[in-house]
Amino acid sequence: MNLVLRIWNSSLGKKYLMALSGVVLVLFVIGHMVGNLQIFLGPEAINRYAHFLQSNVELLWPVRLFLLTMVVLHIVSAIRLTLDNRAARPMEYAHGQPPFAASLASRTMLVGGLVVASFIVFHLLHYTIKIDSLSVVKTSAPATALKFQDLKEMLPTGETRPDVYAMMVAGFSNPWISLCYAIGVGLLCFHLSHGIAAMFQSLGFRNHVYSPLIEKAAKVIALVLVVGYLSIPAAVLLGLGRTHLEKAVAQAAMIKSLPASKADPQNLKANPLK
Ligand code: HEM
Repeated sequence: MNLVLRIWNSSLGKKYLMALSGVVLVLFVIGHMVGNLQIFLGPEAINRYAHFLQSNVELLWPVRLFLLTMVVLHIVSAIRLTLDNRAARPMEYAHGQPPFAASLASRTMLVGGLVVASFIVFHLLHYTIKIDSLSVVKTSAPATALKFQDLKEMLPTGETRPDVYAMMVAGFSNPWISLCYAIGVGLLCFHLSHGIAAMFQSLGFRNHVYSPLIEKAAKVIALVLVVGYLSIPAAVLLGLGRTHLEKAVAQAAMIKSLPASKADPQNLKANPLK
């Protein structure tokens, strides 16, 4: 216990905690992008993938709790390290500028990180919790109020699963929502363009030979992430998935307008909307 407290309170311990939690979060961000890019393989691929993740509750919740712990550790160590640095340097720099050439990304790590954290909260409310105000699906018949939850893919067996493909297309068809993602993901990648290099330094993997290479690699990873993530809203705004969404909306509207017993997927199987 004493040892844990000593690590927690030491400057090196705080740096290690921030770097290790950062490694986990970067790996998640890379994995999540690869998973999301399956949207370009079509509805079947991404819906199967999302269904696999959501239906494995014994895997889903431990991973969620682990990620949440990493986010909390990352933010708490960032705040504690910033306070330590301020306490060690009570005088402001002359003209408010540090004497060395610190990049904008490095100088805005704490504020940028907190803005990214609020983007993640917005994103969870949008696609995971699917709050009512963010999950409205626009239809040609405005009287039919559809939500993301109503979008279901009909399987050949007659069973249904959430149509995550249609949900993503419906979400990003709203240019304002896509703009929020562009800003959030842009800031995240700006944060990572410095964060990944700083992570290597904290873990002691950086020296004068590798430093320039690590800094370049951090920027390339950040660029790949921003392009990979934002290719999805961009493709949707250019028309990706529009026909699929129209069919999914027609099917959802039909299920909603049917009495409960007739809306049984087994009954619809005989006459699904193709
Ligand atoms: C264009 C960018 C993005 C798209 C299209 C996207 C898509 C999605 C979708 C569809 C879900 C819900 C999955 C489901 O219903 O099974 C989700 C969940 C999630 N996303 Fe993203 N995402 C994006 C960016 C990000 C970024 C940048 C982060 C993190 C920094 C992130 C973190 C998460 C987390 C933590 C979850 C919750 C996973 C869970 O269910 O526990 N996403 N995302």
